[in-house]
Amino acid sequence: MMPLDPNKLPIHLAVIMDGNGRWAQQRMLKRIVGHQRGAETVKMVVEQSSLLGIKYLTLFAFSSENWSRPVLEIRGLMTLLKKYIRQETARMMRKNIRYNVIGNRSDLPDDVNETLDEAIRKTSGNTGMVLTLALSYGGRQELSRAAAKLAKDAIEGKISYEDIDVNIFGSYLDTGGLPDPDFLIRTSGEMRISNFLLWQLAYTELYFTETNWPDFTINELHKALADFQSRERRFGLTSDQINKRGDLSNA
Ligand code: IPE
Ligand code: IPE
Ligand code: MG
Repeated sequence: MMPLDPNKLPIHLAVIMDGNGRWAQQRMLKRIVGHQRGAETVKMVVEQSSLLGIKYLTLFAFSSENWSRPVLEIRGLMTLLKKYIRQETARMMRKNIRYNVIGNRSDLPDDVNETLDEAIRKTSGNTGMVLTLALSYGGRQELSRAAAKLAKDAIEGKISYEDIDVNIFGSYLDTGGLPDPDFLIRTSGEMRISNFLLWQLAYTELYFTETNWPDFTINELHKALADFQSRERRFGLTSDQINKRGDLSNA
């Protein structure tokens, strides 16, 4: 395996974990088996990211649009999510990882919210990696919720409309306080964003692999990160400017 440069890793890695259903269906298995196997890949990516010193890992686990899937699949996913969080919280404590959730939590079942609250509370003092789960998450939904909150604060005089800029707007998003992702990986060969982090991905480096999420390995993660390290992030500047100013990705 190519050694990675520890000084050129993404500070924030985001992942669209896709292809669980197809992985299962190709093997004549139920889709939920694919989700169960996908949970094993989650454990690996969380562990590796934390070992590598990545500060923020954000995983797209359930979208606003996924609520339209068959009820049985949704139920299976919610049960799996609760089981995963309960099982993994002790490991998160040992690895100093803090849980965070983005998305419309009011649509999640009460028992899922209780499990999430407990995990967030228990890990709230951890100072290592921040593991953000995007649950019942949609970028457009997040943006419109932020706009509504801004409008409310403006009407109540907490903020002046003239002060609204990129930074203030960003702070009203679910991700307020998190840096934008530097690198996005999507598995399963689909080359789309599917309503994930629409605002935050403005300058993110994108990486797509054909591999379905349950088959995504440590080697593939390293390959993806090595690809990230080979890119020149210009943020609208010229290559000459970047080379004079040093690497902006670590600015
Ligand atoms: C990703 O796998 C997990 C979720 C969206 C919850 P999919 O369930 O989308 O798997 P495919 O895309 O149907 O193969
Ligand atoms: C995106 O995957 C959402 C998650 C990975 C949770 P989907 O499988 O829902 O996306 P589409 O429908 O193929 O765009
Ligand atoms: Mg999918």
